[in-house]
Amino acid sequence: MTEKDFIPTHYSKRNIESVQEGKQGKTVWKSPSNIALVKYWGKRENQLPANPSISFTLDSCATVTSVTFTKLKNRSKTFAFDVLFEGESRPDFRPKIATFLNRIETYLPFLRWYNLRIETSNSFPHSSGIASSASGMSALALCLIDMENDIAPMADEEFFIKKASFLARLGSGSACRSVEGDIVHWGYHEKTKGSSDLYGIKFPYAVDDIFKEYQDTILLVDKGKKEVSSTLGHNLMHGHPFAQRRFEQAHTNLDRLHKVFSSGDLDGFVDIVESEALTLHAMMMSSRPYFILMKPNTLEIINKIWAFRKATQSKVCFTLDAGANVHVLYPKMEKQRVLEFIENDLVAHCEKGHYICDRIGYGAKKM
Ligand code: PMV
Repeated sequence: MTEKDFIPTHYSKRNIESVQEGKQGKTVWKSPSNIALVKYWGKRENQLPANPSISFTLDSCATVTSVTFTKLKNRSKTFAFDVLFEGESRPDFRPKIATFLNRIETYLPFLRWYNLRIETSNSFPHSSGIASSASGMSALALCLIDMENDIAPMADEEFFIKKASFLARLGSGSACRSVEGDIVHWGYHEKTKGSSDLYGIKFPYAVDDIFKEYQDTILLVDKGKKEVSSTLGHNLMHGHPFAQRRFEQAHTNLDRLHKVFSSGDLDGFVDIVESEALTLHAMMMSSRPYFILMKPNTLEIINKIWAFRKATQSKVCFTLDAGANVHVLYPKMEKQRVLEFIENDLVAHCEKGHYICDRIGYGAKKM
């Protein structure tokens, strides 16, 4: 598929105009966050990834967004919308949403004929250091494509999901991996059937049952706002001395992960996932300008996980996103002892002792 395939042809400007002024509708979606195992870091124009990535969709870390849409008399010169976050008007959210609407207008050409009231809230605390862009942009993309479905119904559910992911990508790259569950691949990769740079797809091969109920406990090391945005970080991969090798490595790690998923080889899983997390941060540390997002407590936790694994033969491992928080990943059968370990040894390194228990989830839902 190409970008052009997402431009609707099943309705025309005249169809949009013929909707009665003042006609109202509402759509509500809940979208989860996701945690990458093979990381996306570096992008090309139009939010296209420099390398393929794969993630676990999460379950409880999610955003609920509703869009109430009211038909205007005429096409508006600028996008007509209000944004409320957790019940309060948030003009500071407007620029990001306006940029998003601008990027997707070609694919949802009715947008300027409507006033949009966007209300959004997160299941996780706002100042937790957990990025809400993946769940937030995915929930908003789903509301907007659902709105299109209301104006001009489309029959194909598979296409609906693909287009939702395609639109979410234009809001925030990793958001395209938050539409479906439980394992989602994004970016062209020779050995992943149906993979595309344009949208995420459900991992298309058999996966060992051990991965079906994987747990992710997120240790909140630093709840502050990130010092370096991921947009800036991605851009620093242009001209980065190790960029090409890193992009190739992501392909190799995906090949290896395919084997790990089918065989259930947890040692292989630990090795790939931790190496990916550290490589992501190594890319940050070796870009110009260089920066470090890990905190001393991030390293304390990593060292304690390694010591615990050595002492107990546990398969617990960590991954990081673009921040200081640590995602602790483990199979469900280890839940009790890993939670004990977290309580006894790791909570001391969390800001205010806070952490969030999550697990692999099954994708966005219409509410
Ligand atoms: O979607 P963005 O632009 O916020 O980038 C996300 C990048 C990482 O979280 C670090 C990696 C990933 O693949 O999710």
